[in-house]
Amino acid sequence: MPGGLVIRDAVPDDRAAVLTFWPHPDRFDRRLILSRAGEEVLLVADLPDPGAGAAGIVSIRWSGGCDDPVRPLLYALEVRPDRRGRGIGTGLIRHVASLVAARGRTEITLEVEVGNAGAIRLYHRLGFATIGPHQHVWHAGTISGTAETLIMHGRTAHLMS
Ligand SMILES: CC(C)(COP(=O)(O)OP(=O)(O)OC[C@H]1O[C@@H](n2cnc3c(N)ncnc32)[C@H](O)[C@@H]1OP(=O)(O)O)[C@@H](O)C(=O)NCCC(=O)NCCS
Repeated sequence: MPGGLVIRDAVPDDRAAVLTFWPHPDRFDRRLILSRAGEEVLLVADLPDPGAGAAGIVSIRWSGGCDDPVRPLLYALEVRPDRRGRGIGTGLIRHVASLVAARGRTEITLEVEVGNAGAIRLYHRLGFATIGPHQHVWHAGTISGTAETLIMHGRTAHLMS
């Protein structure tokens, strides 16, 4: 993990910094509402970079993903483009694993688009196993569509080691 990386719960003041690299204001606001309701946890990563703001985000949905009502879902993982390749994504995933383990849960699920080779490589390197292909149905306002994804599962004990 990069020196001085701090991972913490997101707050409304993170909005401007997060939207510079994750331009989804409605989703950010919704993640915060669901975090306050205890259904999710939205995390941000800060580098010791005065005034730079959040460098990465990730969310955990406790009730699981569309394929999986049991395992907590790791999603909305994004690192600022100019901060990638420094271990921030790894740090966020490991932090998620520790929060999931602290709740007595042993596995995490996630979905990744089949063409996202970089993220798939990262998940494999950290110990996630590919479970199989999935067709994800998404909705954005009145528009909807599908995306070809892979479902992956990771064991918290392995991810934290
Ligand atoms: C995937 C992502 C979160 C990784 O964050 P990161 O902080 O760069 O990750 P780390 O530094 O801990 O690990 C680096 C690994 O991430 C992967 N990676 C994916 N895209 C990358 C990029 N643009 N730059 C550097 N690494 C990238 C690689 O596997 C890399 O490992 P390698 O150096 O051995 O090739 C980040 O690249 C990102 O935000 N990508 C766009 C959003 C995305 O794809 N999210 C995942 C959706 S399921």
